[in-house]
Parts: sequence; structure tokens; C-alpha cells
Amino acid sequence: KDIPHTAIGGCHYPHDDWTNVSTKMLSYVGRNIHLQNNHPLSLIRQRIVQFFHKTFIGRTGNAVFSVYDNLNPIVTVEENFDSLLIPVDHPSRKKSDCYYLNQNHLLRAHTTAHQARLMSMGLNNFLIVGDVYRRDEIDSTHYPVFHQVDAVRLRTAQDLFPLDASILSVFDKGVERTEETQEHYNKEISCLMINEMKKTLEMMASELFGKDVKTRWVSAYFPFTHPSFELEILHHDKWMEVLGCGLIEQKILKTAGAVNHIGWAFGLGLERLAMHLYEIPDIRLFWSEDLGFLSQFNVEDPRTPIKYKPVSIYPPCSNDISFWLPQDAPFASNDFYDLVRNIGGDLIEQVNLIDEFTSPKKKMTSHCYRIVYRHMERTLTQEEVNVIHKDIEKTAVNELKVTIR
Ligand code: PHE
Repeated sequence: KDIPHTAIGGCHYPHDDWTNVSTKMLSYVGRNIHLQNNHPLSLIRQRIVQFFHKTFIGRTGNAVFSVYDNLNPIVTVEENFDSLLIPVDHPSRKKSDCYYLNQNHLLRAHTTAHQARLMSMGLNNFLIVGDVYRRDEIDSTHYPVFHQVDAVRLRTAQDLFPLDASILSVFDKGVERTEETQEHYNKEISCLMINEMKKTLEMMASELFGKDVKTRWVSAYFPFTHPSFELEILHHDKWMEVLGCGLIEQKILKTAGAVNHIGWAFGLGLERLAMHLYEIPDIRLFWSEDLGFLSQFNVEDPRTPIKYKPVSIYPPCSNDISFWLPQDAPFASNDFYDLVRNIGGDLIEQVNLIDEFTSPKKKMTSHCYRIVYRHMERTLTQEEVNVIHKDIEKTAVNELKVTIR
């Protein structure tokens, strides 16, 4: 009973000589920054999901794709590798590349780890979004935790040709495996699926990067798809890889019980897209809880263009101010914001209304604002912030007729 183990999410994973996951790495499990309001990764996630929802609409106007964005990142070796036909001696399985809980469980190295199980549940169109874990060097574009989106789309001959009863199957006997297609699949149907996949993914690239984006296809290799491709986009005169995709190996479909189907899949990394879209210079910033970073992504519409402005490396200092609004004069928050800017200048990084309430007895409304002060070149002292803060209070009383609480 006292064997060393990792306890997480109500499960116990006994240690063995594969165990290499640290407490630090486990602390990322459940953070779910891809689901955090106004986080850059969440904005791109929403844009991709919205794109799939509007592109694939069912007979009754419903969205065809279902979304799985909160699956447990602890998966079995079978899910992460075997179910995807990744050979036993494949380098991506190495202890030096993955975070293993033990010989049977690891932190998923890609969101593709869930595709076989979701297909065997009978799903034909779905998206998977989540955190993935890989041991890698650490620099401005690599972090041991990042986020991926995967999609799967499966079709039968009946889905493809509902009005043509003569086409009963996606299969065709005697077809050999070539560069262009898998064995057994009808060539035209295979071509149709690859075209739908490529068109869809090009449209998704235009949706994210603008309609003038230049794209190109490069052939690729994945053990779980054939043929396989990578989509690249031209960004600042350099070709950048954005995703991998391909026709799913029929053996995977067969094992999952999707025996009459042909399908395509793709996977992409969200951080890389976000860094290019928003000009975020360092991948560590995605883990920042600093309002100077997060507030820049505080938008209603995830399609709002945003260009990230670097935040000072010096610490912020925040002070709150609470006051009763004037009873016989109008009050606009924007007037207060201007006043704060006028007095605090560039030391003001943020002003947020954090509380608002109306006293039923006094029939008065009070506002509480949090003001975040930060100098771009040095650390501010609490004393100097207090002087400015007092000045803001005094001026608000005089000019806006508020009463400090
Ligand atoms: N899982 C692959 C990766 O992490 C991406 C991929 C997904 C490729 C699905 C093809 C199909 O790089």
C-alpha cells in the first residue's frame, strides 16, 4: 500500500522505471488556459470552433462538429501511440520525449491521442482541444506544455452520394497503395475527401490570417494518416508550418468500428498561431497572470484584430479607490478614466471597475476601481504611488463631485 505513486484526479498511478513526470509538470494539469476567458489561446480556439460550426451545417441547420475541449490529459500509451499505429520503436515514444506517469500512462503528447476512442463511440465529426506535454528544449518558442486542436471528419458513400444508389461503398477492390491514396479506397472518393480537407483547411487559414494569406501544401509523413500533408503559410516572407493532416489510415477506422467510412484528420498547435497572429514574442507569456498581458486580449468578439504591446518587466503596484457617485449630477466612468490618466500619465497601466453597488437605504451608488500603476523603466515604490493615488482621490472629489468611502 505504501508503494510510491502519483495521485491525481482521484486516480493512483504507481511509479515504475518509466516514471519521469515532476510535480511541477502535474501542476499544469487542469489549468486549462485554452478555456480561460479572454486568453489569446481561447480566442483562437473560439475562432476555429466557430469556423467549423459555420462551415459544416447539418440538414436542420445544426452544427455538425462536436467539440471536446476538456478531456483528461492523462492517457494510456495505447491511446497516445498504439491506437494510432505508431511503431513500438518510434522515437516519439522515448522517455526523453514524453512525461510518463508510469509504463502505461503519460501526459498526452498530442490531442490525436483521443481520436480512436471518440470514433469508436460513434462520432463522425469532432474537434478536440487541449493541453499537450512534450519534453523539449526551452526557448522563446518551446515550452513543455502547449495546446493543440485536432479534427476528424468521417463519411460513408451514402453521406457523399445520397441520391446515387449505385455508389454503395467507399471501397474498391484491387487498388494498390500509392503516394496519392491508400489501398482499397475508391480513387475518386479518396480524391474528393482530400479536396474537401484541403479546401477546408485553406479556408480556415484565410479565416485566421486574412483572405490574402499565401498558402502551400507540402507532403508529410504521419503513421496514422496516408497520404499526409502539412499546410504552410507565408508570414513575414517566411514559410511557416501551421498544421499536419491526412486521410486517416483505414485500419484505425476499422478497429474503431467505422467500417464503411473514409475520413480525414488534422492537428495544429495553438501557441505558434497565437504568437504570429498577435505578435507575442515569448511563449512563456501565455502562462502570465499579469493583467498587463491578459487585458490586451479582453475583447467581446474573438475576431477583433489585436497587436500585443510588450509589458514592462518591472512589478505593478495596485491601489483601489471607492466612492459614492454624485446624487444630483451625472457620472460617467470614462470621465474618471481620463482624470486618472491626466494625473498618473504613463504610470497607469490599468483601471478596472471591480465593484458596483447601490444602497437601497441611501439610494446611492458606489463604484470601486482598481488602478494598476507600473513604471516601464524601474520599480515604483508604494510611497510614490500613494502620492499619486491621493491626488487622484482629491481631484475626483473636486471635479467629479464624488464622495470617497
Ligand atoms: N498529431 C500530429 C502532431 O502532433 C498532427 C496531426 C493530427 C497530423 C492529425 C495528422 C492528423 O504533429
